[in-house]
Amino acid sequence: MNPIDAVDWLLDKSIVLGYSRVGYAVRRLWWPTGATSRQIAGRHVLITGGTSGIGKATALECAKAGAVVHILGRSMERALQAKDDLDRQAPGADIRVEECDVSSLADVRRFAEDFTARVPALTALVHDAGTMAKERTVTAEGHEVTFATHVLGPFLLTHLLRPVLAADGGARVVFVSSGGMYGSKLRDDDPEYAESRYRGTTAYARTKRMQVVLAELWNERLRDDEIVVDSMHPGWVDTPGVQTFLPVFRALSRPIIRPPSQGADTIVWLACGHDTEGTGARFWHDRRARSTSWGPRPADTPPQRARLWDYCAAATGVGTWSDSRVSLDSSAALQHGSPS
Ligand SMILES: NC(=O)c1ccc[n+]([C@@H]2O[C@H](COP(=O)([O-])OP(=O)(O)OC[C@H]3O[C@@H](n4cnc5c(N)ncnc54)[C@H](OP(=O)(O)O)[C@@H]3O)[C@@H](O)[C@H]2O)c1
Repeated sequence: MNPIDAVDWLLDKSIVLGYSRVGYAVRRLWWPTGATSRQIAGRHVLITGGTSGIGKATALECAKAGAVVHILGRSMERALQAKDDLDRQAPGADIRVEECDVSSLADVRRFAEDFTARVPALTALVHDAGTMAKERTVTAEGHEVTFATHVLGPFLLTHLLRPVLAADGGARVVFVSSGGMYGSKLRDDDPEYAESRYRGTTAYARTKRMQVVLAELWNERLRDDEIVVDSMHPGWVDTPGVQTFLPVFRALSRPIIRPPSQGADTIVWLACGHDTEGTGARFWHDRRARSTSWGPRPADTPPQRARLWDYCAAATGVGTWSDSRVSLDSSAALQHGSPS
């Protein structure tokens, strides 16, 4: 192992150094810089969760790079406030607001139909919207809310936006996962967390693991359309979300927790199309491929992955894993009703 790889590995395994602003400061001494492999100026970028925290910081960087940035949140009022802030920080940028609750499959369908009618080609889709429920709650459609927000909504949105992503001819999809996913195996046996005592942090870790797996599966599915799908984790980042959901953690980590811009860095790097495809890796942190399991053994098996896909497919109306063609025709998923 060369010295840089060794230091990077130590930072990663220490967690506290690697995930904090220390890791960011050290790694940026050697990480890849220079020209991006493609320009996003003038092209459309959609960021779910773009109204706050890491998503908002991602929106700012994409706007500064000249992209047409769509920030999506549940509340138009909050989205407009975020746009005001971003407009001040990136004068002249083209920032547009989108209202959608990604935990609602019906709302995702409504939004996708409207968006694809307005936007002919999408160069990057960032699945950043995130939550951490204290108790097990279900959406109006009957899905556990963390699973619906992190997994089902993004799953359906990726499928429905496939035609506009394909139209770009080199689009990127980025799932914003979490280092917390290392603490969970793939729970394809109980995706909605209905069969054991619910803990919000466990639900969070489980669904963040699912995002990493689904990014790999979507990457396979969308390859023919030259759409590259990655996942990443941003480290520990000081955001309104952390302040709300993890106040004790935030207080303890305050001297070293990253600002949102550092959490957003690898998202923007991926969205700008740095060449990750040749590496075969799909999970990233601080501009470097990371293992998807903590120990030497993989955290899941191919049949488990297929079961997760098929569960999501059944809930959303997307083709099953064994169906080698996920139809470019989105009408089936648009019309699909929610499962009981
Ligand atoms: N902060 C960290 O240390 C950290 C670490 C690892 C991973 N992450 C991940 O990074 C992502 C962003 O987190 P953050 O810390 O920046 O949190 P944040 O400040 O709370 O931002 C979360 C964003 O998600 C949006 N959102 C939540 N539920 C939504 C829904 N159902 N539909 C549409 N939008 C929804 C919120 O928008 P509205 O409230 O306006 O609707 C908000 O813009 C999350 O996926 C999180 O899991 C964060």
